[in-house]
Amino acid sequence: MQSLKLIAPHLFFFACLFYVFDPTESQNIIYSYCDTGNNYTSGSVFEQNLNLTLTSLASNASLTGFSTTAIGQNPNTVYGLVLCRGDVSQQDCQACASTASIEIIKQCSNNNKEAAISYDNCLLRYSDRRFFSTVDSSPKLMLYNVNNVTEPVVFNRQLGNLLRNLSSNAASSTSKFSAGQTNFLDFQYINAMVQCTRDLAGNNCSNCLQDIIRYIPQCCNGKEGGQVLSLSCNLRFEIYSFFLLSSPPPPSLVQPNSTSQDEKKSTSKVIVFVAIPLAATMVVALIVCCCFFWRNGKKKRVDTDPDQEGSMATLDQWNSYGAIGSSAAG
Ligand SMILES: *[C@@H]1O[C@H](CO)[C@@H](O)[C@H](O)[C@H]1NC(C)=O
Ligand SMILES: *[C@@H]1O[C@H](CO)[C@@H](O)[C@H](O)[C@H]1NC(C)=O
Ligand SMILES: *[C@@H]1O[C@H](CO)[C@@H](O)[C@H](O)[C@H]1NC(C)=O
Ligand SMILES: *[C@@H]1O[C@H](CO)[C@@H](O)[C@H](O)[C@H]1NC(C)=O
Ligand SMILES: *[C@@H]1O[C@H](CO)[C@@H](O)[C@H](O)[C@H]1NC(C)=O
Ligand SMILES: *[C@@H]1O[C@H](CO)[C@@H](O)[C@H](O)[C@H]1NC(C)=O
Ligand SMILES: *[C@@H]1O[C@H](CO)[C@@H](O)[C@H](O)[C@H]1NC(C)=O
Repeated sequence: MQSLKLIAPHLFFFACLFYVFDPTESQNIIYSYCDTGNNYTSGSVFEQNLNLTLTSLASNASLTGFSTTAIGQNPNTVYGLVLCRGDVSQQDCQACASTASIEIIKQCSNNNKEAAISYDNCLLRYSDRRFFSTVDSSPKLMLYNVNNVTEPVVFNRQLGNLLRNLSSNAASSTSKFSAGQTNFLDFQYINAMVQCTRDLAGNNCSNCLQDIIRYIPQCCNGKEGGQVLSLSCNLRFEIYSFFLLSSPPPPSLVQPNSTSQDEKKSTSKVIVFVAIPLAATMVVALIVCCCFFWRNGKKKRVDTDPDQEGSMATLDQWNSYGAIGSSAAG
Protein backbone atom coordinates (compact mmCIF):
# COMPACT_ATOMS: atom_id res chain seq x y z
CA MET A 1 0.00 0.00 0.00
CA GLN A 2 1.49 3.28 0.98
CA SER A 3 4.91 3.78 2.28
CA LEU A 4 5.81 6.95 4.00
CA LYS A 5 8.49 8.74 5.81
CA LEU A 6 7.76 10.78 8.87
CA ILE A 7 9.90 13.20 10.69
CA ALA A 8 9.60 12.93 14.43
CA PRO A 9 9.33 16.04 16.51
CA HIS A 10 12.62 16.93 18.11
CA LEU A 11 12.52 14.39 20.85
CA PHE A 12 15.46 12.51 22.05
CA PHE A 13 13.77 9.25 22.81
CA PHE A 14 10.71 8.24 20.96
CA ALA A 15 8.99 5.40 19.33
CA CYS A 16 6.86 5.45 16.26
CA LEU A 17 3.76 3.41 15.98
CA PHE A 18 1.67 3.32 12.92
CA TYR A 19 -1.85 2.15 12.81
CA VAL A 20 -4.66 2.19 10.43
CA PHE A 21 -8.01 2.60 12.01
CA ASP A 22 -11.18 4.54 11.88
CA PRO A 23 -10.90 7.41 14.33
CA THR A 24 -14.64 7.97 14.38
CA GLU A 25 -15.11 4.87 16.51
CA SER A 26 -15.43 6.59 19.85
CA GLN A 27 -14.92 3.43 21.90
CA ASN A 28 -11.34 2.99 20.79
CA ILE A 29 -8.42 4.16 22.79
CA ILE A 30 -6.60 6.72 20.71
CA TYR A 31 -3.52 6.51 22.86
CA SER A 32 -2.49 5.60 26.35
CA TYR A 33 0.59 6.89 28.04
CA CYS A 34 2.25 5.18 31.00
CA ASP A 35 5.23 6.68 32.77
CA THR A 36 7.31 3.62 33.54
CA GLY A 37 9.96 5.54 35.47
CA ASN A 38 7.86 5.80 38.56
CA ASN A 39 5.87 2.94 40.09
CA TYR A 40 3.74 2.43 43.17
CA THR A 41 3.41 -0.84 45.06
CA SER A 42 0.23 -2.87 45.07
CA GLY A 43 -1.87 -2.38 48.16
CA SER A 44 -0.12 0.87 49.04
CA VAL A 45 -1.74 4.07 50.23
CA PHE A 46 -0.95 5.53 46.82
CA GLU A 47 -3.00 2.82 45.18
CA GLN A 48 -5.90 3.48 47.54
CA ASN A 49 -5.75 7.17 46.67
CA LEU A 50 -5.54 6.35 43.01
CA ASN A 51 -8.65 4.19 43.25
CA LEU A 52 -10.51 7.02 44.96
CA THR A 53 -9.26 9.50 42.37
CA LEU A 54 -10.48 7.39 39.48
CA THR A 55 -13.86 6.86 41.14
CA SER A 56 -14.23 10.56 41.71
CA LEU A 57 -13.26 11.45 38.14
CA ALA A 58 -15.63 8.89 36.68
CA SER A 59 -18.52 10.04 38.82
CA ASN A 60 -17.97 13.76 38.34
CA ALA A 61 -16.93 13.99 34.69
CA SER A 62 -20.35 14.39 33.16
CA LEU A 63 -21.51 17.21 35.45
CA THR A 64 -19.64 19.77 33.40
CA GLY A 65 -17.49 17.66 31.11
CA PHE A 66 -14.43 18.44 33.18
CA SER A 67 -13.23 17.51 36.64
CA THR A 68 -10.03 17.59 38.64
CA THR A 69 -9.32 16.09 42.01
CA ALA A 70 -6.44 15.70 44.45
CA ILE A 71 -6.71 12.92 46.99
CA GLY A 72 -4.47 11.95 49.91
CA GLN A 73 -1.59 13.37 51.87
CA ASN A 74 1.90 14.00 50.63
CA PRO A 75 3.80 11.98 49.42
CA ASN A 76 0.88 9.79 48.41
CA THR A 77 -1.29 12.45 46.87
CA VAL A 78 -2.84 11.54 43.55
CA TYR A 79 -3.85 14.30 41.15
CA GLY A 80 -6.42 13.46 38.53
CA LEU A 81 -8.11 15.16 35.61
CA VAL A 82 -10.82 14.17 33.20
CA LEU A 83 -11.96 16.15 30.18
CA CYS A 84 -14.70 15.29 27.74
CA ARG A 85 -14.67 16.49 24.17
CA GLY A 86 -16.56 19.77 24.09
CA ASP A 87 -19.41 18.57 21.92
CA VAL A 88 -20.28 15.19 23.46
CA SER A 89 -23.51 14.56 25.33
CA GLN A 90 -23.52 14.02 29.09
CA GLN A 91 -24.25 10.34 28.59
CA ASP A 92 -21.37 9.85 26.20
CA CYS A 93 -19.10 11.81 28.50
CA GLN A 94 -20.12 9.66 31.43
CA ALA A 95 -19.64 6.45 29.48
CA CYS A 96 -16.24 7.50 28.24
CA ALA A 97 -15.02 8.62 31.67
CA SER A 98 -16.16 5.38 33.27
CA THR A 99 -14.44 3.27 30.65
CA ALA A 100 -11.29 5.37 30.84
CA SER A 101 -11.08 5.09 34.63
CA ILE A 102 -11.05 1.30 34.39
CA GLU A 103 -9.00 0.96 31.24
CA ILE A 104 -6.19 3.26 32.37
CA ILE A 105 -5.26 0.77 35.10
CA LYS A 106 -5.33 -2.13 32.65
CA GLN A 107 -3.25 -0.27 30.10
CA CYS A 108 -0.70 0.92 32.64
CA SER A 109 -0.55 -2.36 34.47
CA ASN A 110 2.94 -1.83 35.87
CA ASN A 111 1.54 0.35 38.65
CA ASN A 112 2.67 3.53 36.98
CA LYS A 113 2.43 6.66 39.10
CA GLU A 114 1.64 8.77 36.09
CA ALA A 115 -0.58 7.90 33.18
CA ALA A 116 -3.03 9.23 30.63
CA ILE A 117 -5.56 7.67 28.33
CA SER A 118 -7.32 9.29 25.43
CA TYR A 119 -10.47 8.37 23.54
CA ASP A 120 -12.32 10.24 20.86
CA ASN A 121 -14.74 11.46 23.54
CA CYS A 122 -12.54 12.02 26.59
CA LEU A 123 -9.12 12.28 28.14
CA LEU A 124 -8.27 10.99 31.61
CA ARG A 125 -5.01 11.63 33.35
CA TYR A 126 -3.45 11.11 36.79
CA SER A 127 -0.10 11.74 38.37
CA ASP A 128 1.73 11.90 41.69
CA ARG A 129 2.69 15.47 40.86
CA ARG A 130 0.44 18.45 40.67
CA PHE A 131 0.13 19.08 36.94
CA PHE A 132 -2.91 21.34 36.98
CA SER A 133 -2.65 24.67 35.18
CA THR A 134 0.62 23.69 33.53
CA VAL A 135 0.98 23.13 29.83
CA ASP A 136 2.20 19.92 28.26
CA SER A 137 1.84 20.55 24.56
CA SER A 138 4.17 17.88 23.26
CA PRO A 139 2.15 15.80 20.84
CA LYS A 140 1.31 12.36 22.13
CA LEU A 141 -0.25 11.49 18.84
CA MET A 142 -0.68 12.87 15.34
CA LEU A 143 -3.09 11.47 12.82
CA TYR A 144 -3.85 12.29 9.27
CA ASN A 145 -6.47 11.50 6.74
CA VAL A 146 -4.70 9.91 3.76
CA ASN A 147 -6.71 11.88 1.20
CA ASN A 148 -4.92 14.81 -0.36
CA VAL A 149 -6.52 18.21 -0.78
CA THR A 150 -6.91 19.55 -4.27
CA GLU A 151 -5.87 23.14 -3.57
CA PRO A 152 -3.28 22.98 -0.80
CA VAL A 153 -2.40 26.67 -0.90
CA VAL A 154 -5.97 27.85 -0.47
CA PHE A 155 -6.61 25.09 2.02
CA ASN A 156 -3.65 25.96 4.22
CA ARG A 157 -4.51 29.63 4.25
CA GLN A 158 -8.11 28.99 5.21
CA LEU A 159 -7.18 26.33 7.72
CA GLY A 160 -4.67 28.67 9.33
CA ASN A 161 -7.24 31.45 9.61
CA LEU A 162 -9.86 29.12 11.00
CA LEU A 163 -7.55 27.61 13.60
CA ARG A 164 -6.40 31.05 14.69
CA ASN A 165 -10.00 32.12 15.17
CA LEU A 166 -10.97 28.97 16.99
CA SER A 167 -7.90 29.15 19.22
CA SER A 168 -8.65 32.65 20.32
CA ASN A 169 -12.30 31.73 20.95
CA ALA A 170 -11.31 28.66 22.96
CA ALA A 171 -8.71 30.54 24.99
CA SER A 172 -11.18 33.23 25.98
CA SER A 173 -14.08 30.91 26.78
CA THR A 174 -14.66 29.00 30.02
CA SER A 175 -15.26 25.78 28.09
CA LYS A 176 -11.83 26.11 26.45
CA PHE A 177 -13.45 24.52 23.41
CA SER A 178 -14.31 25.91 20.03
CA ALA A 179 -15.57 24.40 16.81
CA GLY A 180 -16.45 25.94 13.48
CA GLN A 181 -16.08 25.89 9.75
CA THR A 182 -14.83 28.04 6.94
CA ASN A 183 -15.08 28.06 3.16
CA PHE A 184 -12.60 26.17 1.16
CA LEU A 185 -13.77 25.63 -2.37
CA ASP A 186 -17.19 26.53 -3.73
CA PHE A 187 -19.03 23.69 -2.10
CA GLN A 188 -16.43 22.55 0.36
CA TYR A 189 -15.83 23.60 3.90
CA ILE A 190 -13.08 23.02 6.38
CA ASN A 191 -14.45 21.91 9.75
CA ALA A 192 -12.26 22.16 12.80
CA MET A 193 -12.29 22.04 16.55
CA VAL A 194 -9.75 22.91 19.21
CA GLN A 195 -9.83 22.22 22.93
CA CYS A 196 -7.69 22.81 26.00
CA THR A 197 -8.08 21.28 29.44
CA ARG A 198 -10.12 23.76 31.44
CA ASP A 199 -7.57 24.19 34.20
CA LEU A 200 -5.40 26.23 31.83
CA ALA A 201 -5.43 30.01 31.91
CA GLY A 202 -6.41 31.68 28.65
CA ASN A 203 -2.89 32.57 27.59
CA ASN A 204 -1.62 29.11 28.48
CA CYS A 205 -4.39 27.55 26.40
CA SER A 206 -3.54 29.85 23.55
CA ASN A 207 0.15 28.93 23.78
CA CYS A 208 -0.64 25.23 23.87
CA LEU A 209 -2.79 25.48 20.74
CA GLN A 210 -0.16 27.49 18.92
CA ASP A 211 2.39 24.81 19.79
CA ILE A 212 0.34 21.97 18.37
CA ILE A 213 -0.77 23.93 15.31
CA ARG A 214 2.92 24.11 14.43
CA TYR A 215 2.94 20.33 14.02
CA ILE A 216 0.34 20.34 11.26
CA PRO A 217 2.93 20.74 8.49
CA GLN A 218 4.76 17.71 9.88
CA CYS A 219 1.81 15.42 10.27
CA CYS A 220 -0.83 16.58 7.89
CA ASN A 221 0.47 18.85 5.18
CA GLY A 222 -1.81 18.81 2.17
CA LYS A 223 -4.17 16.34 3.81
CA GLU A 224 -7.94 16.60 3.98
CA GLY A 225 -7.93 15.97 7.71
CA GLY A 226 -5.69 15.69 10.70
CA GLN A 227 -5.44 15.61 14.46
CA VAL A 228 -2.76 16.62 16.90
CA LEU A 229 -3.26 15.49 20.47
CA SER A 230 -1.28 16.54 23.52
CA LEU A 231 -2.04 16.20 27.21
CA SER A 232 -3.12 19.82 27.55
CA CYS A 233 -4.77 20.58 24.25
CA ASN A 234 -5.78 19.05 20.95
CA LEU A 235 -7.08 19.94 17.52
CA ARG A 236 -8.82 18.24 14.63
CA PHE A 237 -9.83 19.34 11.15
CA GLU A 238 -11.63 17.58 8.31
CA ILE A 239 -13.37 18.53 5.09
CA TYR A 240 -16.46 16.77 6.35
CA SER A 241 -18.47 17.65 9.41
CA PHE A 242 -17.48 15.54 12.40
CA PHE A 243 -19.22 17.58 15.08
CA LEU A 244 -21.32 15.50 17.41
CA LEU A 245 -23.96 17.98 18.52
CA SER A 246 -25.65 20.31 16.08
CA SER A 247 -22.52 22.30 15.68
CA PRO A 248 -22.20 25.95 16.41
CA PRO A 249 -20.37 27.34 13.40
CA PRO A 250 -19.13 30.90 13.61
CA PRO A 251 -22.07 33.27 13.05
CA SER A 252 -20.19 35.15 10.38
CA LEU A 253 -20.24 32.17 8.09
CA VAL A 254 -22.87 31.23 5.57
CA GLN A 255 -24.11 27.71 6.01
CA PRO A 256 -24.48 25.49 2.99
CA ASN A 257 -28.10 24.66 2.42
CA SER A 258 -27.68 21.02 3.14
CA THR A 259 -27.45 20.89 6.90
CA SER A 260 -24.33 19.35 8.29
CA GLN A 261 -24.83 15.75 9.13
CA ASP A 262 -23.85 14.07 12.27
CA GLU A 263 -20.50 12.48 12.30
CA LYS A 264 -20.00 11.16 8.83
CA LYS A 265 -17.70 8.22 8.44
CA SER A 266 -14.44 9.08 6.94
CA THR A 267 -14.08 7.31 3.68
CA SER A 268 -10.43 6.95 4.21
CA LYS A 269 -8.33 5.18 6.71
CA VAL A 270 -6.10 7.21 8.92
CA ILE A 271 -2.50 6.62 9.60
CA VAL A 272 -1.27 7.23 13.06
CA PHE A 273 2.01 8.41 14.31
CA VAL A 274 2.84 8.16 17.98
CA ALA A 275 5.69 9.97 19.56
CA ILE A 276 6.78 9.58 23.11
CA PRO A 277 8.21 12.70 24.56
CA LEU A 278 10.39 12.69 27.63
CA ALA A 279 10.82 15.32 30.22
CA ALA A 280 14.21 15.94 28.75
CA THR A 281 13.00 16.99 25.35
CA MET A 282 15.11 20.09 25.57
CA VAL A 283 17.50 18.23 23.39
CA VAL A 284 16.98 19.75 20.03
CA ALA A 285 18.03 16.66 18.24
CA LEU A 286 16.05 16.12 15.15
CA ILE A 287 15.73 12.45 14.72
CA VAL A 288 14.40 11.11 11.57
CA CYS A 289 12.22 8.14 11.78
CA CYS A 290 11.88 6.42 8.51
CA CYS A 291 9.07 4.11 8.82
CA PHE A 292 8.11 2.04 5.89
CA PHE A 293 5.06 0.14 6.62
CA TRP A 294 2.63 -2.11 5.10
CA ARG A 295 -0.87 -3.21 5.73
CA ASN A 296 -0.52 -6.33 7.79
CA GLY A 297 -3.81 -8.04 8.01
CA LYS A 298 -5.30 -7.87 11.47
CA LYS A 299 -2.06 -8.14 13.30
CA LYS A 300 -0.59 -5.62 15.68
CA ARG A 301 3.04 -4.96 16.17
CA VAL A 302 4.45 -2.56 18.69
CA ASP A 303 8.05 -1.63 19.16
CA THR A 304 9.11 0.51 22.00
CA ASP A 305 12.44 1.52 23.30
CA PRO A 306 12.91 -0.32 26.59
CA ASP A 307 15.11 2.48 27.88
CA GLN A 308 12.58 5.20 27.60
CA GLU A 309 10.80 6.39 30.69
CA GLY A 310 7.40 6.53 29.10
CA SER A 311 5.69 3.92 27.09
CA MET A 312 2.69 3.90 24.88
CA ALA A 313 0.27 1.11 25.26
CA THR A 314 -2.21 0.25 22.63
CA LEU A 315 -5.52 -1.37 22.61
CA ASP A 316 -6.66 -4.72 21.39
CA GLN A 317 -9.65 -3.14 19.71
CA TRP A 318 -7.25 -1.56 17.29
CA ASN A 319 -6.63 -4.99 15.93
CA SER A 320 -10.04 -5.04 14.42
CA TYR A 321 -9.07 -2.14 12.20
CA GLY A 322 -5.86 -3.74 11.17
CA ALA A 323 -2.65 -2.37 12.47
CA ILE A 324 0.33 -1.79 10.36
CA GLY A 325 4.04 -2.03 10.87
CA SER A 326 6.02 0.14 13.15
CA SER A 327 9.54 1.04 13.88
CA ALA A 328 11.42 2.67 16.68
CA ALA A 329 14.63 4.51 16.86
CA GLY A 330 16.53 6.43 19.43
C1 LIG B 1 8.37 0.13 36.92
O1 LIG B 1 7.88 -1.10 36.43
C2 LIG B 1 8.39 -1.44 35.16
C3 LIG B 1 7.71 -2.71 34.71
O2 LIG B 1 7.64 -3.65 35.74
C4 LIG B 1 9.89 -1.63 35.25
O3 LIG B 1 10.40 -1.93 33.96
C5 LIG B 1 10.51 -0.33 35.74
O4 LIG B 1 11.88 -0.51 35.90
C6 LIG B 1 9.88 0.06 37.05
N1 LIG B 1 10.40 1.37 37.41
C7 LIG B 1 10.86 1.64 38.63
C8 LIG B 1 11.38 3.01 38.85
O5 LIG B 1 10.85 0.79 39.52
C1 LIG C 1 -7.70 -0.58 43.78
O1 LIG C 1 -8.60 -1.05 42.79
C2 LIG C 1 -8.17 -2.25 42.18
C3 LIG C 1 -9.13 -2.57 41.06
O2 LIG C 1 -10.44 -2.35 41.45
C4 LIG C 1 -8.11 -3.36 43.24
O3 LIG C 1 -7.66 -4.55 42.63
C5 LIG C 1 -7.14 -2.94 44.32
O4 LIG C 1 -7.11 -3.91 45.35
C6 LIG C 1 -7.52 -1.59 44.89
N1 LIG C 1 -6.45 -1.19 45.79
C7 LIG C 1 -6.65 -0.67 46.99
C8 LIG C 1 -5.44 -0.37 47.80
O5 LIG C 1 -7.76 -0.42 47.41
C1 LIG D 1 -16.98 13.80 43.01
O1 LIG D 1 -17.40 12.48 43.33
C2 LIG D 1 -17.19 12.10 44.66
C3 LIG D 1 -17.66 10.68 44.81
O2 LIG D 1 -16.91 9.82 44.03
C4 LIG D 1 -17.88 13.04 45.61
O3 LIG D 1 -17.58 12.69 46.95
C5 LIG D 1 -17.42 14.46 45.34
O4 LIG D 1 -18.12 15.35 46.15
C6 LIG D 1 -17.63 14.82 43.90
N1 LIG D 1 -17.05 16.13 43.63
C7 LIG D 1 -17.72 17.07 43.01
C8 LIG D 1 -17.01 18.35 42.78
O5 LIG D 1 -18.86 16.92 42.65
C1 LIG E 1 0.93 30.37 31.95
O1 LIG E 1 0.69 31.74 31.94
C2 LIG E 1 1.41 32.46 32.93
C3 LIG E 1 0.99 33.89 32.82
O2 LIG E 1 -0.35 34.03 33.10
C4 LIG E 1 2.87 32.32 32.68
O3 LIG E 1 3.58 33.00 33.71
C5 LIG E 1 3.22 30.87 32.73
O4 LIG E 1 4.59 30.71 32.41
C6 LIG E 1 2.40 30.08 31.74
N1 LIG E 1 2.66 28.68 31.94
C7 LIG E 1 2.99 27.89 30.96
C8 LIG E 1 3.28 26.49 31.34
O5 LIG E 1 3.07 28.27 29.81
C1 LIG F 1 -1.30 11.94 -1.70
O1 LIG F 1 -0.11 12.46 -2.27
C2 LIG F 1 1.04 11.66 -2.04
C3 LIG F 1 2.25 12.35 -2.60
O2 LIG F 1 2.00 13.63 -3.02
C4 LIG F 1 0.84 10.31 -2.69
O3 LIG F 1 1.97 9.49 -2.43
C5 LIG F 1 -0.38 9.66 -2.09
O4 LIG F 1 -0.62 8.43 -2.73
C6 LIG F 1 -1.61 10.54 -2.25
N1 LIG F 1 -2.70 9.94 -1.50
C7 LIG F 1 -3.86 9.69 -2.06
C8 LIG F 1 -4.89 9.05 -1.17
O5 LIG F 1 -4.13 9.96 -3.20
C1 LIG G 1 -11.82 34.79 11.50
O1 LIG G 1 -12.46 35.82 12.28
C2 LIG G 1 -12.58 37.02 11.58
C3 LIG G 1 -13.12 38.06 12.55
O2 LIG G 1 -14.05 37.48 13.42
C4 LIG G 1 -13.51 36.83 10.39
O3 LIG G 1 -13.61 38.02 9.67
C5 LIG G 1 -12.90 35.78 9.48
O4 LIG G 1 -13.79 35.50 8.42
C6 LIG G 1 -12.66 34.51 10.26
N1 LIG G 1 -11.94 33.62 9.38
C7 LIG G 1 -12.16 32.32 9.37
C8 LIG G 1 -11.37 31.53 8.42
O5 LIG G 1 -12.95 31.78 10.14
C1 LIG H 1 -32.70 24.99 1.25
O1 LIG H 1 -33.32 23.86 0.74
C2 LIG H 1 -34.70 23.81 1.03
C3 LIG H 1 -35.26 22.52 0.46
O2 LIG H 1 -34.40 21.46 0.76
C4 LIG H 1 -35.42 25.02 0.44
O3 LIG H 1 -36.78 24.99 0.81
C5 LIG H 1 -34.79 26.29 0.93
O4 LIG H 1 -35.36 27.40 0.29
C6 LIG H 1 -33.28 26.27 0.67
N1 LIG H 1 -32.68 27.42 1.26
C7 LIG H 1 -31.82 28.18 0.60
C8 LIG H 1 -31.25 29.33 1.34
O5 LIG H 1 -31.50 27.94 -0.55
